Amino acid sequence: MSLRSSAWYAGQDRNSYIHRAWMRRGAPDDAFTGRPQIAIANSASDLTPCNSHLNEVAESVRQGIWAAGGVPLNLPVVSLGETNMRPTAMLWRNMAAMATEEMLRANPIDGVVLLGGCDKTIPSLLMAAASVDIPAVVVPGGPMLTGTFRGKPLGCGTDVWRLSEEVRAGTLSAKEFLSSESSMIRSRGHCNTMGTASTMGLVAEALGTTLPGTAGIPAADSRLLARAHETGRLAVEMVTSDRRPSQVMTEGSFRNAIVALAAIGGSTNAVVHLLAIAGRLGVALSLEDFDRIGSDVPLLVNLQPAGEYLMEDLHRAGGLAAVLRQVTDLLDKDAITVTGRPLVETLGEAEIWDADVIRTREAPLLPHAGIAVLRGNLAPNGAIIKPAAASQHLLTHRGRALVFDSAEEVHARIDDPDLDVDADTVLVLRGCGPRGYPGMPEVANLPLPSKLLRAGVRDMVRVCDGRMSGTAYGTVVLHVAPEAATGGPLAKVRTGDWITLDVPNRRLTVDIPDSELAAREPSEGLMAALAQPRRGWEQLYVNTVTGADTGADLDFLTGASGHDVARESH
Ligand code: FES
Repeated sequence: MSLRSSAWYAGQDRNSYIHRAWMRRGAPDDAFTGRPQIAIANSASDLTPCNSHLNEVAESVRQGIWAAGGVPLNLPVVSLGETNMRPTAMLWRNMAAMATEEMLRANPIDGVVLLGGCDKTIPSLLMAAASVDIPAVVVPGGPMLTGTFRGKPLGCGTDVWRLSEEVRAGTLSAKEFLSSESSMIRSRGHCNTMGTASTMGLVAEALGTTLPGTAGIPAADSRLLARAHETGRLAVEMVTSDRRPSQVMTEGSFRNAIVALAAIGGSTNAVVHLLAIAGRLGVALSLEDFDRIGSDVPLLVNLQPAGEYLMEDLHRAGGLAAVLRQVTDLLDKDAITVTGRPLVETLGEAEIWDADVIRTREAPLLPHAGIAVLRGNLAPNGAIIKPAAASQHLLTHRGRALVFDSAEEVHARIDDPDLDVDADTVLVLRGCGPRGYPGMPEVANLPLPSKLLRAGVRDMVRVCDGRMSGTAYGTVVLHVAPEAATGGPLAKVRTGDWITLDVPNRRLTVDIPDSELAAREPSEGLMAALAQPRRGWEQLYVNTVTGADTGADLDFLTGASGHDVARESH
């Protein structure tokens, strides 16, 4: 076995002396001779509350690495907390990925265990590992346990959106709303709905990048630590077998990830993350693949926001393996996991223990799930919608546009009693794409006008170039590309234009002639909203970020780059 780290440690010269001497710190003499150096890329942070328990997980990984003859190395990485970061954690997903990539490449590391949880952390870690292409395995930090309020389960995120809309509708007092706050987060772990964190943990497993059976174990469940220990051992074996991300994350693996995404009713954010990861590997994955592969997959998991239950229920009902076993025929038979075995072989006899939480193929929640990809003169490069989270009667709809040039304008005007809006209006929010906001925030599910809420309206068609929280729901067309800030047609829509949404035929159009659309100038309000002073990372991001339809990565980070570093440091 030839170790990458031996380029630092194996010599007898001055530089090898330096590399070894500073790293000893009590390590045994044989730590640098033939033992795999395994980094634990740990996104624990007090400011990322969903990941704050990862230090304990890291300790179990560490023990596993030692037990298998490797040397564990703690590597704190940029951590992105969804609830705190302004303007949006997504602005730094690529920065976190780039920083981790550079640290893995620059250091004497043979393999890496990736510890993530909160929404952007697993995607950024996988993007980094894909770029460096050293053996890598994910331990998802796991969801929190189910919190309850007045005897009923509370779904993280989803119930915040629901309860806050009830306040605006006048059916719940602000005091009652606030009294639920301390019940929302019951334990360590990430959001317990089928939001982006849960989705990305499960999708990472379907992609083959976790020890099978790990994703979805609640963060507070001791079995997670046992799996973390096993994963540490596995990382050492992966190095000795030279099993790298480019062998695990293949076209077939992305197929499996898309099938899983559809069957679990996962977050729309997975689309932009999977496109970015594939882009790092040079795997040809397109927006249409999500529709082509996912749309005939039945929705099998009855979790909020599309259904009723929460992640703890999914785990007790049999977890991802039980779900995937129902759709084995749709999976790629050859795509391997980090164990070296095909994913389909790991599903074994996985049983469903609660058929209301995990539905069988014969009795799905919906016969067709997945993500629908829309095209038309309003979205020439595509837009997406998650039909399972939408109102079925709105999936075919024609309505007048009411256009907002910024999220701030929405907040300032949406509750105006004189707002010219009815239940058929299509709410349009623009300037929220990767370059526009910047960072593509989760604002696409803009709040409904309170006067309509009070009249009993609970959903309207919304169209936006931003993203939507995975915990959110509604008939929301999002990721519209090209985004308004790069001159997409969305920039030219005016209040009063007629917009047609036709999900069965995958169309999103504005009913004005192409020549008139081309002749229109973007609105002054939009241009004003986009004109912000920038510096540093934000400037680099705005200058180089790609569209949502290709993963919103930086244009110079796509394509595989490997782990070679030719030059010494001294
Ligand atoms: Fe971290 Fe939801 S806020 S996963």
